Amino acid sequence: MQLSLTQPSSWILLLLLVMNLFLWKNVASVPMCAMRNARCFTFFEDTFELAGSLSHNISGEVSELFTEFENHYAKVPRLKDKGLMRCHTSSLSIAENKEQAKHTHYEALLKSGHMILNAWESPLENLVRELSATENVPDTIISKATNIKTKINAVQKGVNSLMSSMLQNGDEEKNNPAWSRLPLLQPGNEDARIRSFYGMISCLDNDFKKVDIYLNVLKCYMLKIDNC
Ligand SMILES: *[C@@H]1O[C@H](CO)[C@@H](O)[C@H](O)[C@H]1NC(C)=O
Repeated sequence: MQLSLTQPSSWILLLLLVMNLFLWKNVASVPMCAMRNARCFTFFEDTFELAGSLSHNISGEVSELFTEFENHYAKVPRLKDKGLMRCHTSSLSIAENKEQAKHTHYEALLKSGHMILNAWESPLENLVRELSATENVPDTIISKATNIKTKINAVQKGVNSLMSSMLQNGDEEKNNPAWSRLPLLQPGNEDARIRSFYGMISCLDNDFKKVDIYLNVLKCYMLKIDNC
């Protein structure tokens, strides 16, 4: 299986393909492998590899979106008002940085990534829909956000499959507080909307840095890569 991994669409395609194979094979015992960079990856390894690489890319893209948004709306009064910045995921008790992540059990790390991804599923949809419905938002911002949402959905599918194949009971995450406090976009005038978009993108940026760290620590661990 040789796909050009310079195209975001092939990342997503490959990830989805791996996922599908994943669902009907018993992962640990799959004898086949996918050849990439002259290396044979099992589907299991492949999923970690792809989820790690894609989440790293997403984390960079979210930062770019955040910077672009911030520059474009720099003149909006109280844009960076800290009072508006409470993230709906802030109550999750999860590893804060790479050092902590390295000392977290791999199952807990995978669960944390899973929780963050799930907590963002509907807010992200909401964000993209509302951005598109707001006047004068630059097309580049809308298309970046849409693209990010597509990639995040792909990573989420990957992590869901890893969860269901690695963990026996993936039931506890249902009572996670993140679900009960989804961020609501502020009603009101345009500046207020822009401020709430800004707050959400800032939270997404923070959270995706964590997902990037978790999935790459997991990737290193699962693929036994040194020095990372
Ligand atoms: C993410 O991947 C795409 C496609 O490979 C690339 O064009 C883009 O520059 C990458 N973004 C970052 C922030 O690395």
